[in-house]
Amino acid sequence: MSDLKILALSGSNRRGSFNTALLNNAKTLVSPGVSIDIYQGLNDLPFYSEELDGVKLHPEARRLREAIASADGILLAVPEYNFSLTAMLKNSLDWASRPSGNHVLVAKPTAIVGASSSLLGTIRAQLHTREILHALQADVVSRPEVLVAQASHKFNDAGQLTDESTIIFLTQLLDGLVKKIQTRRKILYSLELESS
Ligand SMILES: Cc1cc2nc3c(=O)[nH]c(=O)nc-3n(C[C@H](O)[C@H](O)[C@H](O)COP(=O)(O)O)c2cc1C
Repeated sequence: MSDLKILALSGSNRRGSFNTALLNNAKTLVSPGVSIDIYQGLNDLPFYSEELDGVKLHPEARRLREAIASADGILLAVPEYNFSLTAMLKNSLDWASRPSGNHVLVAKPTAIVGASSSLLGTIRAQLHTREILHALQADVVSRPEVLVAQASHKFNDAGQLTDESTIIFLTQLLDGLVKKIQTRRKILYSLELESS
């Protein structure tokens, strides 16, 4: 099988973001042949408007949709703001979710992680994100949940994860995402064979 490409989206636009740090650590935990690229520019998307969609599609929205379409899988890092996902991440999912029923997240293998300063480690934001992804028909890895609570104690000053159990859970989640991608590839391949 050819190399697998995972596109990672961080819901934080903060320079010292723990969620972006989590994605940077994920890059080092995948097997050879699997790459994780962190999308740059969610901040540059305007707030979703149907007037910026369709024939007059905003270039940043086009760029996001093309990046998701060309990735084999998606990894979302979900910070928690006021018991939910950040507006920037929700806005990105709204842009990705059109055209309705025929958008780039349908059946896309997807995994969710999150880090917060609280004891609950983004559980509420992740549950909201799961609901949204369910509505969008993405194929979401269910376990393990990577809930990085009290994040400031789990990374060193260089942004490297120092917490052993977090590293183990994150590695297991990434393995689950890769397995989903491989299964999807096999299904698509056998469908292609059938129709040829
Ligand atoms: C506006 C705002 C709301 C927040 N609400 C929550 C919350 O509901 N639950 C929580 O665990 N942390 C909350 N936090 C703390 C964030 O989890 C914390 O700032 C975290 O580091 C943000 O992610 P980042 O490091 O990737 O930017 C909030 C922070 C901000 C700025």
